[in-house]
Amino acid sequence: RPAPASLLTIFGATGDLAQRMLLPSLYSLQAEQLLPPGLRILGTARSELDREGFSTLVANTINQRIPAAERNDAALRALLGRLDYCAASVDNDASMQALAAKVGELRNGDVLYHLSTAPRFYVPACHALAAHGAADAQTRVMLEKPIGKDLASADAINDGVAQVFDEERVYRVDHYLGKEGVQNLIALRFGNALFEPLWNSVHIEQVQITVAETVGVEGRGDYYDDSGAMRDMLQNHLLQLLCLVAMEPPARFGPNSVRNEKIKVLRSLRAIGRDDVAGESVAGQYTAGAIDGVAVPGYASELGRDSRTETFVALRAHVDNWRWSGVPFYLRTGKRLPARCTEIYIQFRKVPYSIFGGRAATDMQPNGLLIRLQPEERIELDLMAKTPGLDRSGLRMSQVALDLDFHQEFANARRRISYERLYLDAIEGNGTLFVRRDETEAAWQWVDTILDGWRSANHAPKPYPAGTWGPSAAVSLIERHGHSWRE
Ligand code: BG6
Repeated sequence: RPAPASLLTIFGATGDLAQRMLLPSLYSLQAEQLLPPGLRILGTARSELDREGFSTLVANTINQRIPAAERNDAALRALLGRLDYCAASVDNDASMQALAAKVGELRNGDVLYHLSTAPRFYVPACHALAAHGAADAQTRVMLEKPIGKDLASADAINDGVAQVFDEERVYRVDHYLGKEGVQNLIALRFGNALFEPLWNSVHIEQVQITVAETVGVEGRGDYYDDSGAMRDMLQNHLLQLLCLVAMEPPARFGPNSVRNEKIKVLRSLRAIGRDDVAGESVAGQYTAGAIDGVAVPGYASELGRDSRTETFVALRAHVDNWRWSGVPFYLRTGKRLPARCTEIYIQFRKVPYSIFGGRAATDMQPNGLLIRLQPEERIELDLMAKTPGLDRSGLRMSQVALDLDFHQEFANARRRISYERLYLDAIEGNGTLFVRRDETEAAWQWVDTILDGWRSANHAPKPYPAGTWGPSAAVSLIERHGHSWRE
């Protein structure tokens, strides 16, 4: 592992992500005294601010974003004491030279650059840092998604970055990996002896991964319309969740071991090619409807023009290897669905034979394991139990849930922003929860094949009213195979 960073330089330090996630996360790390003692934080963006102006912006952000009960003046002062600012723009070489000089002045060892900008600036920013001597063997870089919009453009970005930073010094963010619930999935699988023997096609009938959002495109129409649900959510967040569910036990919880197992899963995904897209995938786009009783416009009117971009996607995927042969992985994600919810549902196979005759036999349901990541973190194990009471025809059975709610169990645990974990790890030089180049590329390759199938079939997204679970074709996609979406 490299040494902890002595300087964190944030590009896009005045931007939306910085204000919503990055600065509040740094504050929380400071408040919990998790930042290395001498760490300096250098903000950079186009805005012509000085150090004081940036400090004021950070203080205002913290006061707005962190609930009063969690705020403390000493922590805020300590955070502000670490800050500096240097206005710069990647296309202005003199400003990049000044930035590099500032980096040289503030660093006292390793530097972490965080590029929280539009991806088209990644390569020029890396090259400018190198040209001005600010990218050496003790520097590393953290990149936001999207890395490209297909394999070719991802390759171009990765190649450009690789000319300056070796792969082990590149930290690609998938903010889902920073979520407590996602790490809990790893803890559940590999911290308990109970599940692993059952975790395969002999015992598991099907897996469902749902990432549902109630929001629309929230003023990001230009980016989103060029992207769609497949590129925006499925290529990264859903496939990462799938990898963590399907991977073999890594030898250790470390960057090489974990990522070596994830890439095998991505490479085992069965291609959904031109002949299969119609049967194995569904694209949808929301029309006007209502969320929680409040009327909301359709996608096209939010965007201000007609569009064929999908705001919903459902797929039936297969991981073609010994462990998962024949087990469908149903994936779905969409905007303007009825509830915000991220969950993984593992349905086990039915009992091989029911010893209970009569009505109990028809009561029987397969066992299920639900791992809910959002809005709350919960694990639920669905079991069959005897329905209390008497019945002439013998026993009756009911499905009951063993329910573990992490917020009740760990009552003092605060809900964290995923960047707290991600910043801490990147500052410490631990890449386990970041995405390696081969993973992004394998994911693009798989997704590109589906997008190509849609294009060649001239596949238009099917409309669904906002506030519903996507087009009815998403229901037929799964019911055709004798399964149904978990409600
Ligand atoms: C982002 C997508 O990566 O994830 C957004 O670009 C989406 O479109 C967001 O809304 C969802 O993240 P979360 O953490 O709110 O589930």
